[in-house]
Amino acid sequence: MRLESRWADTVQKPQRIPALQFFWLCAPWLCASCERAWNLRVFLAGLTSGTVQERYRMTGSEHQTQIVAGRRTVNFYNCVGCHIVEDRGGYVRRFYKEDQINFAPPILNGEGAKVQPQWLFTFLQGPTPIRPWLKIRMPTFHLTNQEDDTLVNYFTGLSDVNVPYMFINTNLLAPVELQAGAKLMSKDYFNCFSCHQQGDKKPEGPESGWAPDLALAHQRLSPEWILAWIANPPSIQPGTKMPSFYPGGPDDILGGSFCSTDGFVDPHSVMMGFIAFGVVTNLYILPHLWNSSRENALIALIVPHAFRYVGLSFLVPGVVSPSLEQAFALPAAYGDFCASILALIAIFALRARSHWAIPLVWLFSIWGFADLWLAMYQGVIGVGIMPGSLGAAFFIPTTIVPPLLITHGLIFWLLLRASQTVRT
Ligand code: HEC
Ligand code: HEC
Repeated sequence: MRLESRWADTVQKPQRIPALQFFWLCAPWLCASCERAWNLRVFLAGLTSGTVQERYRMTGSEHQTQIVAGRRTVNFYNCVGCHIVEDRGGYVRRFYKEDQINFAPPILNGEGAKVQPQWLFTFLQGPTPIRPWLKIRMPTFHLTNQEDDTLVNYFTGLSDVNVPYMFINTNLLAPVELQAGAKLMSKDYFNCFSCHQQGDKKPEGPESGWAPDLALAHQRLSPEWILAWIANPPSIQPGTKMPSFYPGGPDDILGGSFCSTDGFVDPHSVMMGFIAFGVVTNLYILPHLWNSSRENALIALIVPHAFRYVGLSFLVPGVVSPSLEQAFALPAAYGDFCASILALIAIFALRARSHWAIPLVWLFSIWGFADLWLAMYQGVIGVGIMPGSLGAAFFIPTTIVPPLLITHGLIFWLLLRASQTVRT
């Protein structure tokens, strides 16, 4: 077998001297032109035993396998003849002049992040018009369910989307926000329907400037994608005719922000969290503090913070909504995780009565407190997370954060007290 595969390399590179040839044989990935020799080697190696040997098989994750399978289907049906996918293909586009490019089939880069997977599945089974003015149509391929699944997994896999089904709870939309949205889209403001088809209603102006039917958006597009799109269309599709409205939106609607965050956490629940834990503090914590050494009192107050690893749940899809902003989730999750580690270190130092103990408690307190404030600032003002996007982690800001803030306050109070002991 080895002889034959060396022969394969010789076929590709007859001019190489034997030593070099040996080198290419061992390290064919060093040179792209060796690819064919490598393929031949795999083929020959496959001939010797019934199946291709383990080391020549593609060992990819399920994710990679899905993408490769999808790529095959896309090539098989020549989707790339019409569409640009993964930055390649779209061969039919060269028959459209620059000013007529709006009549060409759409670009499918990032399609997995753009549309709802269940819409994509139905659309591929039986395409329905999104841009009714197009002369070229998306063919019905009569795909099997298996092929359709492969394609949906391919597009979502390429965009790293892990949600098999997207559900939009319209009950979560506050009427104020719906009105604000309608106003923004109206003629007096952004006049979205001057370009966009709206059900049967045609846009104004020449067809070359028309844009997809927005009446389909709620069943077709991912809400998270819409936000990213409106925030900055060219970052998603370079050269698009869709204008960037933000920053610079009207101040009289939602304070000039395109994403209102009012009510991402119910303020009443947060207030109840403070009241309930205030009662616990008064009944059970304060009397205990009076009767313990400063170190023991600090330990008792820091122990609950060791559980702040629970903040990592911000990173678990399914616990939080996939639309939760990473810019919020990452610092909040890892900030809390570090706080729980610092809490443990401080507890051990206090137990050992180390002279490092108090500086460590200071370090933990400043870090832990700053982390909570940063998360609150980011949630409400900085990143601005959407109502409902905390999902099951809703209990963290309402039930866990108030006790953490109260204990932080007590820890600071103990630290700032001049005496070494509260009462011995
Ligand atoms: C003959 C050209 C042609 C071929 C081949 C073709 N499509 Fe399309 N496709 C279109 C056109 C035209 C549209 C736009 C339909 C509309 O907007 O009404 C479209 C739309 C789409 C959309 C929706 C895009 C959006 O706006 O979100 C997807 C997804 C899609 N095609 C996938 C595929 C896949 C997968 C294949 C191969 C199995 C394929 N298409 C093959 C012409 C084609
Ligand atoms: C000047 C014309 C124009 C205006 C005004 C406009 N858009 Fe668009 N929009 C486009 C174009 C063109 C596209 C298609 C993207 C592309 O293919 O480049 C698009 C795409 C979209 C999409 C994706 C639609 C889909 O189904 O694929 C959404 C959502 C969208 N716009 C929302 C809006 C909203 C909301 C407004 C008003 C605030 C608006 N647009 C105003 C031109 C416009």
